[in-house]
Amino acid sequence: MDEFEELKKKISKDKNFSCAQYKDPYLKRRFAIRMRATTTKSYREYMKLLDTDPEEYPILLNVLTVNVTEFFRDTSVFEEVKRVLKLAIKAKQENHRNSMRIWSAGCSNGSEAYTIAMLSDNILGTETNSFKVSIYATDIDDGSLKRGRDGIYNPDLLKGVQKPYLQKYFNEVDGGYQVTNATKKMVTFKRNDLINERPLPMMDMIFCRNVVIYFSRELQEKLFMNFYRSLNKGGYFVMGKTETLVGEARDKFTPVNNKERIYQK
Ligand SMILES: C[S@@+](CC[C@H](N)C(=O)[O-])C[C@H]1O[C@@H](n2cnc3c(N)ncnc32)[C@H](O)[C@@H]1O
Repeated sequence: MDEFEELKKKISKDKNFSCAQYKDPYLKRRFAIRMRATTTKSYREYMKLLDTDPEEYPILLNVLTVNVTEFFRDTSVFEEVKRVLKLAIKAKQENHRNSMRIWSAGCSNGSEAYTIAMLSDNILGTETNSFKVSIYATDIDDGSLKRGRDGIYNPDLLKGVQKPYLQKYFNEVDGGYQVTNATKKMVTFKRNDLINERPLPMMDMIFCRNVVIYFSRELQEKLFMNFYRSLNKGGYFVMGKTETLVGEARDKFTPVNNKERIYQK
């Protein structure tokens, strides 16, 4: 086995973190970032460092699971999401249902989940008390989940948030803005590995954006079908703007807005 394969195997074994979910060129680029930073000259040398320096593993895992995100990321998507959310809530109400379930899969620090929470609350207006929107925000990175639960954000991440939303859904605190308790109550953060764990069931809407780009095609196909099964009939799937629906799911979903990557079961 070559050293690259050995390193992948080591990480999987030591940290129960499946490297197989990522494409090799991506892993090589990410390993190179850490090898440059630690001036290790070979995969062998880097493996030794992982054994001797307890601080290196957490940094490596962070680099592997890049968690760049922001509120209202790709604003045009959320224009369309707002329209679709309105339709979904109306359809529920017409069927005498008073709740819906939304999943932000690969949620990073929760910016996406809270964006959805604010939009839903805004659509519901005075009906907030009679209709419950539950948002499940999952990720494999514990640090990100903690940031989501804390709900404190640097203003840099809030550039896409319009002033009325900022005033209604945030409180100014040391270090930035914190989402209000009422908004936090709409979102449940939970650890979930999209590759190795079961998908969350009975969803009305699933967001999985900017997560699968690093996954192999085979895994993407499997994951999209998992999402398809997790959705209730008529449920919506929102992907990242640079991602493409591939495999069996491509024929099963009906496009709602191809440009914004929104599909319906
Ligand atoms: C670039 S962020 C996307 C955040 C948000 N969805 C957005 O579009 O702004 C990708 C997130 O996917 C998470 N991730 C990567 N692999 C994962 C896996 N196998 N299961 C769950 N989450 C994963 C990372 O930890 C990271 O937080």
